[in-house]
Amino acid sequence: MIFSLASMEGITGHVFRRVHAECFGALDRYYTPFITPPRAGSSFGGRVRREVDPAANRGLDVVPQLITKNADEFAWAARLLAEMGYAEVNLNLGCPSGTVVAKGRGAGLLRDPDGLEAFLRDVCRASSLPVSVKTRLGIQDDAEYGRILEVYLRLPLKELIVHPRVQRDRYQGVPRRELYGETLRRAPFPVAYNGDVFGCGDLDALLSAYPDTRHVMLGRGILANPALARMLAGGPAATADELRRFHDRLFDAYREEIGGNAVFRMKEWWSYARFSFADPLSVHRAVRKVRRADEYADAVERVFATERLARVARFQG
Ligand SMILES: Cc1cc2nc3c(=O)[nH]c(=O)nc-3n(C[C@H](O)[C@H](O)[C@H](O)COP(=O)(O)O)c2cc1C
Repeated sequence: MIFSLASMEGITGHVFRRVHAECFGALDRYYTPFITPPRAGSSFGGRVRREVDPAANRGLDVVPQLITKNADEFAWAARLLAEMGYAEVNLNLGCPSGTVVAKGRGAGLLRDPDGLEAFLRDVCRASSLPVSVKTRLGIQDDAEYGRILEVYLRLPLKELIVHPRVQRDRYQGVPRRELYGETLRRAPFPVAYNGDVFGCGDLDALLSAYPDTRHVMLGRGILANPALARMLAGGPAATADELRRFHDRLFDAYREEIGGNAVFRMKEWWSYARFSFADPLSVHRAVRKVRRADEYADAVERVFATERLARVARFQG
């Protein structure tokens, strides 16, 4: 079984990937948060350059994810990534954000299956790297997926990662796993599952319904329980010491990378990590108002001194 870490804009970037791998062991694969390709002829700038810098990702199997509706820009970015040594590039066809969709990118490309096919044909033809896709089922309704799936089945994809919700769902409601199952059954290329695998029982249920599953992408589950992948592979839950060490290394690494903004990045992490504790609300209250690094350090000290770990750490939506 392949366990990969989902792309999560603002969270699962290179700092998180490296520190998490050092503390809890590397996952089999990582997807970068979405990257907008540079204009053809230009190189990746600042933050994105650091994200894809091979030195920052050494020892990890990282797949850069692009978000665009422009095949030439995709091809240009794929060429830059190939020169850096990457072996695959992923296309985001799932981002549900209103502004992204309004520009016809992310899940916005699912609105018009004919246009999607023309775009994907150009992308697959022009890309110097094999192309995988991360998709939703459609915009409004699962019924849209029939035509979208037909498009994918006609293309030479490296892999298709299915998050079985429509754009309108955002991250709410129950994933429509039957449509993942149909994709897995019919696709001539590898298919991965993503969505709401937050504990061992979720994986067991997925595998008993779809035993041919070979790749599960984990997102919020890992943020809420950093030992999740280890546990899914039969290993132990995180101890309080491990969680503390992970926290401290993550905070230090963010401070080195982004200085004072590290507190805000850590608060974002706590919005998930609070579910590692028995009383997530109390943890949330302890960290939500802090702004300065010294206030933050005091709040974290209190959390680790007074809050018990959850019996089973698990993301709650
Ligand atoms: C804050 C946040 C940022 C995300 N950023 C991205 C992204 O950059 N690219 C992408 O394909 N999906 C993105 N996603 C979706 C996740 O990759 C994943 O599909 C989603 O969280 C469902 O998986 P999960 O139930 O395991 O969390 C994001 C989700 C969240 C909550």
